[in-house]
Amino acid sequence: MINLQKKAVGRDFLATGTTMIEQLIELGKNIESKCKVSDDSFVPTCFKTLESFTPTLDLATFDKELANWMLSTELPEQLNVYNAFGQPPVTVFNNGEFVVDLYFWLHSDTSIHTHSFSGAFKVLYGQSLHEIYTVKEKQAYTKDVGMTELKRESIALLEAGDSHTIKAGEEFCHRVVHLKSPTVTLCIRSITDKNVPQWHYFENGLRILKRDLTEAIYKKLFYFEYLYLQNPQQATEFCTRYINNLDDSEVINLFEQLSIDSMGLSDESMEVLYDIIMSQYAELEWFKIYDRACHDANEVELPLNDSPRAYFLAHAKNTCYPKELINELVKKI
Ligand SMILES: [Fe+2]
Repeated sequence: MINLQKKAVGRDFLATGTTMIEQLIELGKNIESKCKVSDDSFVPTCFKTLESFTPTLDLATFDKELANWMLSTELPEQLNVYNAFGQPPVTVFNNGEFVVDLYFWLHSDTSIHTHSFSGAFKVLYGQSLHEIYTVKEKQAYTKDVGMTELKRESIALLEAGDSHTIKAGEEFCHRVVHLKSPTVTLCIRSITDKNVPQWHYFENGLRILKRDLTEAIYKKLFYFEYLYLQNPQQATEFCTRYINNLDDSEVINLFEQLSIDSMGLSDESMEVLYDIIMSQYAELEWFKIYDRACHDANEVELPLNDSPRAYFLAHAKNTCYPKELINELVKKI
């Protein structure tokens, strides 16, 4: 663990007069001067850069600094504006090829996933569990839904200061469970690689393509809400065609997004949307597996406002950690 209280007034920080945000932006500029995202050296350079970076502030002081920076600077183009990957995600550097992102984790974990991008991440504050998986495809239901054999290869604790590489594609599949709230991760990642699929996995091996929902998808959804207030029948027909025109993965990603946040949709229009999705999907074999996976997840409810240890024990029970490992890890949490 890093003693951040002491480092907050470290000599280097005061001597250079740079803020921690400026140091984070400098990390991006440094990498930019050394390599391109297409170079083999990009991932190791990101990793080494993160490895050598030590936060100069404790979290409370950094929160203040970030707040000031956000109000006094024109923010770089934000990578994620509206999703649950970080609450919130904040882009501090973006050169159109890669970003330096901060993710503030309060009450949600990542699913098991692969990446469409590469880079590295570091736990800046807090504590996380890191699970690494191998994946073997067993069956493709559609181009964006399939069944796999998913095997957990390792489980480790990530403490503040620990870094890890991110490799695009199926050779690196992982889940990060954030034990302390908030946990803050710093991630340096490419943003130009659009062709590698990013999969999200369920414990039973089902996988569904992760899709960023476009402005057009959101706009049609909001128009549906308006239309529903004017003419429910016309709105229902509009919504049926809307869902029909989406890929399976877009429907599921939308479905999951709405289960987190209704985005201004009324209960009535949500119900219409839900019924339309169910009428089109409920009888599909993969959707039944998906439905089961959602119901089976978190048999023990994750205690959001309890201790990191309680959160760990609930996750360990839900995902069948070996007893010896639970005993070993619980001592360190
Ligand atoms: Fe990841």
